Amino acid sequence: MCGIIGAVAQRNIAEILLEGLRRLEYRGYDSAGLAIVDYPGCVTRLRRVGKVEMLVKAAKQQPLISGTGIAHVRWATHGEPSEANAHPHVSEQIIVVHNGIVENHELLREVLIARGYFFSSETDTEVIAHLVHWEQKKGGNLRDVVLRVIPQLRGVYGIVLMDSRNPLLLMAACFGSPLVIGRGVGENFIASDQLALLPVTRRFIYLEEGDIAEISYSDVSIFDREGKLVNRAEIESSVQYDASDKGIYHHYMEKEIYEQPMAIKNTLTGRLNHCEVDLSELGPNADAILSQIEHTQIIACGTSYHSGMVARYWFESLASIPCDLEIASEFRYRKSAVRKNSLIITLSQSGETADTLAALRLSKKMGYLGSLAICNVAGSSLVRESDMVLMTKAGTEIGVASTKAFTTQLTVLLMLVSKLARLHDRLVEEQDILHALQVLPNRIKQILGQDKCIELLAQDFLDKRHVLFLGRGDQYPIAMEGALKLKEISYIHAEAYAAGEMKHGPLALVDDNMPVVVVAPKNELLEKLKLNIEEVRARGGLLYVFADQNAGFNNSKDMKIISLPPVETVIAPICYIVPLQLLAYYVAFIKGTDIDQPRNLAKSVTVE
Ligand code: AGP
Ligand code: GLU
Repeated sequence: MCGIIGAVAQRNIAEILLEGLRRLEYRGYDSAGLAIVDYPGCVTRLRRVGKVEMLVKAAKQQPLISGTGIAHVRWATHGEPSEANAHPHVSEQIIVVHNGIVENHELLREVLIARGYFFSSETDTEVIAHLVHWEQKKGGNLRDVVLRVIPQLRGVYGIVLMDSRNPLLLMAACFGSPLVIGRGVGENFIASDQLALLPVTRRFIYLEEGDIAEISYSDVSIFDREGKLVNRAEIESSVQYDASDKGIYHHYMEKEIYEQPMAIKNTLTGRLNHCEVDLSELGPNADAILSQIEHTQIIACGTSYHSGMVARYWFESLASIPCDLEIASEFRYRKSAVRKNSLIITLSQSGETADTLAALRLSKKMGYLGSLAICNVAGSSLVRESDMVLMTKAGTEIGVASTKAFTTQLTVLLMLVSKLARLHDRLVEEQDILHALQVLPNRIKQILGQDKCIELLAQDFLDKRHVLFLGRGDQYPIAMEGALKLKEISYIHAEAYAAGEMKHGPLALVDDNMPVVVVAPKNELLEKLKLNIEEVRARGGLLYVFADQNAGFNNSKDMKIISLPPVETVIAPICYIVPLQLLAYYVAFIKGTDIDQPRNLAKSVTVE
């Protein structure tokens, strides 16, 4: 959830830290802070509650000149967003930034208070600073001290710390929360993800679970939790990061909604030949593994879970492969049964979602056939820890509300289903799917053309406190995703139901104060859906129906129709989320909420 950046260099690194925080802000924006060491023992610590820009303003008020420093953007887990709780936290000469949760912080706090330490914050993090300070008294270098502290911590963390008396050295420890080292010339860096360091390097070393790193401006040494020197591969990053440029758009989310045709096109490139889906990138043994599959278990969170919901319809209807789906935070804490020859499929934009990562790690001890990650961030933990990987090629997604990652996940999933069906000789509609995938970018572009009438529609939702989204079949997950988009950026309560479920209770909610949004493509469930719509109308509901222009709906006082161009049935779920993304965006835009960084949220949920 938080973002960490550290630097040890032979030049002033203050601006590098601040730019890194700007690039990490999507990970958390409750507060921001930095600490630099001008010369041994002389620390300048600056912290501000709120956005990074608040810290930048404060930084301009004083000279910040140093070759060594660490910085942090926070998503609070323990202690409210405040300057006192903002990182870095200190214990005399020890300075710490932390991502994650120290689960045994209360006990450690009691022990440290008994040892005479005074706590100036409510955070769990502060116990790390005092513990390092305490252990340092026992002697040894900073690495020895960290090796003694780590076993005392319970929970997941990414930690970067320094001793202000020796500003030429940073220490880092990684356990469940990602950290990547950036190699420079006469300088080295560390951060939560490579985006923060792209302005200064493209050479990266990803720390693995349990690694401890010693970083100076000339050297990087990595040790395992026993203190044994280990070797980690250095990679050259190919990530393009243009997030600093919103271009003609007001928000990253708006830009990313309109980028979807190109994002899908990029995701398809190289994977569609004229007669079948080509997923040879999965490796030479992939077909052998995929041919054995008798069941798929999808694990994800949030929007990624909703793309898994759509895929479940496809796995079973197109490839006749049983598919189960579960929210990662539930899967990881229950005793589940493993089906025979079952493939774990994790879906994640960031590849760092703590619950999804923990579920993957748990599944490795449960006897699944293997694991496949569908992810948007190269080098992320999920990508590095999965047996097989299919990357979405959506490009960097900055808006906290996921859009192009969702539609590119669905694109990859439909290709995977097509591939599995062919391997299992069960694909009767292969050419239809290939055709639908080929025209998909254009279909999305056509739907984006309806943006102005959706913007007008948004006015009707401004004063509403509750909205209901309805869909049937593979559109039910789209209703779920539309509800999530609206609630997470406009703060209006929204929920979704399978339209056929309304008569089992939710119909009691219907009145003229609660808009009911329906997604209604032309498919075999349309006539059933029309009956559900009439049930709502008969009870005075206000309907907003996103329908195929040939579906036979007519505007009326209590029912507004948003006609959409015809799309191929199999890709209708991917197409019909777009107007709901636009609806949520325009409602939030008019309401003036913080669309790219909605309150209480963060882009990458790396804590549970
Ligand atoms: C979606 O708009 C939200 N930002 C959130 O639900 C997100 O999808 C969820 O946290 C999962 O993130 P991931 O795809 O990076 O794993
Ligand atoms: N648990 C720490 C805190 O609440 C770190 C949270 C984060 O990962 O940002 O300050």
